[in-house]
Amino acid sequence: MTAPSPSVDLPPFPPNGDLPASLRWQAAACGDRSPLYRALLEHAAVDVEEGGPVAALLAPYADRLTASPGLRLLGAVHRLVLDGALPELAPLYPSVGGAGAPEQTWPVVRSVLAERTGEIATAMEASVQTNETGRAAVLYAGLLTLAHRTGLPIRLLEIGASAGLNLRADRYGYRTSTGVFGDPDSPVVLDQPWEGEPPVPLGARVRVVERRGCDPAPLDPASPADRRHLESLVWADQVDRLARLRSAFVVAERVPAPVERVSDTAAWLADRLSETSSGTLTVVWHSVVKGYVDPDAWEAIGSLLADVGEHAGGDAPLARLGFEPETDEHGRPRFAAWLTLWPHGERRLLGTADAHGLPFRWSRSA
Ligand SMILES: C[S@@+](CC[C@H](N)C(=O)[O-])C[C@H]1O[C@@H](n2cnc3c(N)ncnc32)[C@H](O)[C@@H]1O
Repeated sequence: MTAPSPSVDLPPFPPNGDLPASLRWQAAACGDRSPLYRALLEHAAVDVEEGGPVAALLAPYADRLTASPGLRLLGAVHRLVLDGALPELAPLYPSVGGAGAPEQTWPVVRSVLAERTGEIATAMEASVQTNETGRAAVLYAGLLTLAHRTGLPIRLLEIGASAGLNLRADRYGYRTSTGVFGDPDSPVVLDQPWEGEPPVPLGARVRVVERRGCDPAPLDPASPADRRHLESLVWADQVDRLARLRSAFVVAERVPAPVERVSDTAAWLADRLSETSSGTLTVVWHSVVKGYVDPDAWEAIGSLLADVGEHAGGDAPLARLGFEPETDEHGRPRFAAWLTLWPHGERRLLGTADAHGLPFRWSRSA
């Protein structure tokens, strides 16, 4: 699933039923990060207004815009491109080595949508579920901060982990102007992931001794079908992001991090928190999950963490690190990372980032 991604310059998310507005909103959200998808989504909006093939394909999603109809449509097309089933698009799609100008690409996409409607509609039934390794820049910033503050080895627990790729954040490299931190030999290296003055030494030692996640719909990074599913939802002109995702699959082969299928996230977390051991810091991490969870269930997760945290001893502290959309003090949407460390339970703004995590801007108060 991909939540609507607020960004500072975006208008409010349009009301249900207004498909063209939703497509234009998503086009604006893609912005300069994906000129191809921005152009395709803008044309798709006009196509809906003119009753073209996009109108028919998106009609089932008109009353549930949180199902991300635009990304669902383009993800379905991308999947077929990656599978080699749309050779007419291959010369135009950068993800398979093509190099079409966005404006050249739309007429070809439109004829594919008109001629292969049934196939595209079937591919669109797959969930719009991502696992964004760029958000490892946020998580690793939090882990560095916590390692520096506690000096303890870390049990890393992730709720809404998807394929669990970010449970390996300490096994990725982070290239800055002063060196590569994290694992410099990793196949995944995030380039210039941080902006601003880090409040902690970037070379602080992060020791992760356990990594576990949960998700109602976990993906398996070793499964070719699940890999292809995640690849298809990367915007097709973001070749670096696609390469990073594929490199993360390689790290996942080397570093186990089980993600359990759950129907009750709070119950899973309560079980994991009851296993806390002395001399270890437990870190509960979530990124872009809140919008998918029933508000009462989200509240229950927060209460559980606060309750367990208040009873945590100094030799087995608990931390919550969340990266979620919110509005700032001026009412502007943003993605922010907040860090709470118990037993004292002090909550600090660690920083803010683009929806996909890069670059992460350290907060002065972190
Ligand atoms: C936008 S994805 C984010 C995945 C991952 N955290 C990341 O940043 O790449 C949202 C994830 O939340 C999961 N999710 C949905 N409902 C959930 C729930 N009740 N508890 C935990 N995770 C949930 C989805 O299955 C999906 O994997």
